[in-house]
Amino acid sequence: MRKEFKPEAWLYPMPVLIIGSYDVEGNANLMNAAWGGISNDTQISICISNYHKTTKNILERKAFTVSVGTADTVAGCDYVGMASGNAVEDKTERAGFTPVRSEKVNAPLFRELPFTLECELVAYYEDEPRLVGEIVGISIDESVLTDGKVDVKKLKPISFDAVNNRYLILGESVAEAFSVGKKLI
Ligand SMILES: Cc1cc2nc3c(=O)[nH]c(=O)nc-3n(C[C@H](O)[C@H](O)[C@H](O)COP(=O)(O)O)c2cc1C
Repeated sequence: MRKEFKPEAWLYPMPVLIIGSYDVEGNANLMNAAWGGISNDTQISICISNYHKTTKNILERKAFTVSVGTADTVAGCDYVGMASGNAVEDKTERAGFTPVRSEKVNAPLFRELPFTLECELVAYYEDEPRLVGEIVGISIDESVLTDGKVDVKKLKPISFDAVNNRYLILGESVAEAFSVGKKLI
């Protein structure tokens, strides 16, 4: 027996993408976005509304960063998804994030967010609305690496559970990809 639901923006897992940008004065801002993901080899697409400060910043600076939300920063990640930089001047500081200029793009990284994609603006389709970025660099804090690779146990990435309005922690490995299915070939 299966139960039917009306159409919703539900999927498992949904990401917690923390988008970083600078405004014209050089103030750093962040927002939380769940509606996005990799859409090409080195491209990311995220549905963000045009009234966000983030959108205005990105259209002006032609660049942004995308960090992965983490369990250690969950309150700050949630806060930047509720407060707008349009209304709260010290949003970034209140959220507990410390901006650091990216070496590759005109956008900030944040000391407390260890995994960050550095992106140049490719397009913004206002009517959809969808942002497309080219990933020109990936900056990862060494504190979340083991033997030079990302260690999810250290990174503690979180996922947005849109059905139950919760953040979930990711981290358990169940099998090796491109491998476990080989036994069925
Ligand atoms: C869990 C979560 C997911 C969100 N996902 C999106 C999203 O995918 N697209 C979007 O436009 N806004 C999304 N938001 C809302 C923005 O993060 C929010 O409006 C934020 O205040 C915008 O900040 P800004 O105006 O400083 O850019 C989300 C908020 C939360 C809490």
